[in-house]
Amino acid sequence: GRIELGDGSGELAIGGVGVTELAERFGTPLHVVDEDGLRRQIRRFVDGLRARWPRSEVLFASKSFPAVAMYRAAHEEGLSIDVAGGGELQLALAAGVDPTRVHVHGNAKTDAELRMALDAGVGAIIVDNEDELDRLERLLERPQSLLLRVIPGVEAETHASQATGGRRSKFGLPLDQAERAIARMRAHPLMEFAGVHLHIGSQILNTRQFAEAVANISSVGEFAGYDVGGGLGVRYTYEERPPSVEEYLDAIVAAAREHLPADAKLLIEPGRSIVARAGVTLYRVVSVKRTGDVFVAVDGGLADNLDIALTDQRYEALLANRIDEPWTESVQLVGRQCESGDRFIDGAPMPAARVDDVVALAATGAYAYTLSNNYNGALKPAIVFVRDGEARLVVRRESYAELLATHAPALPSAG
Ligand code: LLP
Repeated sequence: GRIELGDGSGELAIGGVGVTELAERFGTPLHVVDEDGLRRQIRRFVDGLRARWPRSEVLFASKSFPAVAMYRAAHEEGLSIDVAGGGELQLALAAGVDPTRVHVHGNAKTDAELRMALDAGVGAIIVDNEDELDRLERLLERPQSLLLRVIPGVEAETHASQATGGRRSKFGLPLDQAERAIARMRAHPLMEFAGVHLHIGSQILNTRQFAEAVANISSVGEFAGYDVGGGLGVRYTYEERPPSVEEYLDAIVAAAREHLPADAKLLIEPGRSIVARAGVTLYRVVSVKRTGDVFVAVDGGLADNLDIALTDQRYEALLANRIDEPWTESVQLVGRQCESGDRFIDGAPMPAARVDDVVALAATGAYAYTLSNNYNGALKPAIVFVRDGEARLVVRRESYAELLATHAPALPSAG
């Protein structure tokens, strides 16, 4: 089949800007964010949760897309921010996020990171373990709001590397060890224990699992707040039918009504479901090789989208400069990194691709840029936000000078 996207120009436009223009102006690989779509999706979460549970807060799990422009858009649209370490905290503060709207995560926070968070005056720290309480006992000079991460005992139906709520999870404390940690916080004059946190995993397509997690943590006790994490799955491929944002909110709020105190604050921290579908990555075709297979090789790969290897994430792609042409073959869309797992799609339907065509990989807003790396000396791609026919560069492409900058000066040659 074909999909109807064209405006008659024969090429895909994102936020009103044609892909050929984007690829020429900014180079490829290029992460492109449809800013209107992004902001609409944020408002669905913020307004949707507030309508169902007024004492609530939506945090953006910024690990999914930690770009300063993203923090700013999130903050402007009423999201609070979840950071997973010192680097993300720096980016959030640089974006002008109100520190009291930042929650700090991590199962191995260092003294330096905790100090940075305390000095910034963050809204809450999500405590993972008792060693972290030892550190906080040493470091606290003022009252600090804390949540405790607990393991809800839900084996999420998702890729193993994306499941975080099962009994053997490295994140948080088992329910039967929570009581002691909570007692320690309650006894400390500067620790303000504000409730419990859970997160069962990512790309979860069954809303019953979120409800089960809420039910399980209610057994720990009655608290002022419950952060039930992120994890809602999104649609990557034509066949997938994930729950809508509204179905997800209905499910967790129904479970909260049944199991949590009516006056408790309910927090969620979605990442992927906020940003994934607002992003598209553009690549250029470098080579088309016809062996038994048709290999369409592009100028990126797992260096800019690690999840094709890490979680076997599946995607759809379009030959974006020729969207009106019929799909005549099924290709192996592959990257340029030295790994056989560096393949975007096994069996992508396309018109016969040519060198320099522009390929658009859909739904790459989450966990692509953030996991980009320098494998094979790859340079981290640029990011543009597009809106109303205007493209705005928000992260520029890494340069070879930057690639070299962290290395000690070259050693004098031997002999
Ligand atoms: N809260 C916590 C504590 C998390 O660890 C995460 C994601 C989220 C919220 C947001 O989850 P989301 O709504 O985005 O599913 N490496 C994997 C993704 C790992 C997700 C990590 N934690 C991937 O690239 O797909």
